Amino acid sequence: MNPLHDLLQPRLAQGPVPASEVMALGLYHPEHGYYRRPEGPWGFAGKDYYTALDLGPLLGQTLALRLEAAWERLGRPARFTALEPGAGRGWLGRDLLNAVSGPFAKALVYVHRDDNPAAKRAAESALAPFLAVHRARFAAESEALEPFLGAVFSNELFDALPAQPWRWDGTRWIREVLTEAGPEWQAADPGEAGAWFAGQTDGLEPQDGSVWCEGLPGLVQSLAAPLQAGLFLAVDYGESADRLLAKGADLRRFKAHGVDGKWHEDLGEADLTADVDFTRLSRLLEGEGLSELGHVELSKWIRTHAPLDRWGGEWMGLPEAERKARTENLLQLTLPNMMGSRFRVLEGWKESSH
Ligand SMILES: C[S@@+](CC[C@H](N)C(=O)[O-])C[C@H]1O[C@@H](n2cnc3c(N)ncnc32)[C@H](O)[C@@H]1O
Repeated sequence: MNPLHDLLQPRLAQGPVPASEVMALGLYHPEHGYYRRPEGPWGFAGKDYYTALDLGPLLGQTLALRLEAAWERLGRPARFTALEPGAGRGWLGRDLLNAVSGPFAKALVYVHRDDNPAAKRAAESALAPFLAVHRARFAAESEALEPFLGAVFSNELFDALPAQPWRWDGTRWIREVLTEAGPEWQAADPGEAGAWFAGQTDGLEPQDGSVWCEGLPGLVQSLAAPLQAGLFLAVDYGESADRLLAKGADLRRFKAHGVDGKWHEDLGEADLTADVDFTRLSRLLEGEGLSELGHVELSKWIRTHAPLDRWGGEWMGLPEAERKARTENLLQLTLPNMMGSRFRVLEGWKESSH
């Protein structure tokens, strides 16, 4: 059993621990956290979840088109930096670099930023051909980034940030905590979160509730600040703030391809996620000087930006197994009720200040 449960006991003996702290411990404890373990969860035996990248290169290929359009809009700079925070195994970077060609490929430098040690090792191998010729590099999360022209993009970064579930019980705010007896909802002062939630609805109903990510402003600031001009793009689980409130958004646990609400079990051994509040993410990016902000379902984003008819024609020339895989990848990302309708893509633009 992961030692995190034992480490948590003295803390629980002193009193309830907010769910967001439990999530932070479960994912980011420096030694035993799910994203800090030396061994990754994606071997043949222990895979807990799959992302759009496990399904094939379509996301990376569409991203390549969006980044090339951003490069054109910036006036074709000689260097276009594409920073990927939360880059994990580096598969999106690999698919992006494989998809580009011509003068844009010469300008593009991909920067992988994620301190997850097991994922970084996997990325070293996925990105090896590009690292060798300096078309890709690693940046530690502590590295101060020089200002750059280009793009910041991520896949499932923001849903992996510790977040605190809150509910309106009809008269007051209650938050989810862990006690020695198990999870409970307890009254507490929601501070800024309460004001934000109340501002997103015409009237709170009992059981309305959402998740509040304390670390979001700091992360958004640190990512948007070095981008001198260009595209900000985030692919993530989530909704606009009013929809999250109405559905009573909560934390989720992914383990062995199952998903449930038992965020307090198997700490360090299970992935924990929280829906992303896209309204708040947009508002924070606006505060960092981004404009033209909007978010759509991933399926719509793919159908809008990928030349699917042309790609479909090209796939006809592939060997059967590969053609099937591409088609499957497309269906997963574009059909209703599949992955493409559970994810959203946010885009924003930063104009050069001079
Ligand atoms: C759900 S995983 C997604 C990985 C990858 N993008 C994918 O789609 O397979 C979230 C990743 O975000 C990383 N992460 C969390 N906070 C981060 C931060 N502030 N900067 C960079 N990476 C971060 C974690 O280490 C983890 O590897």
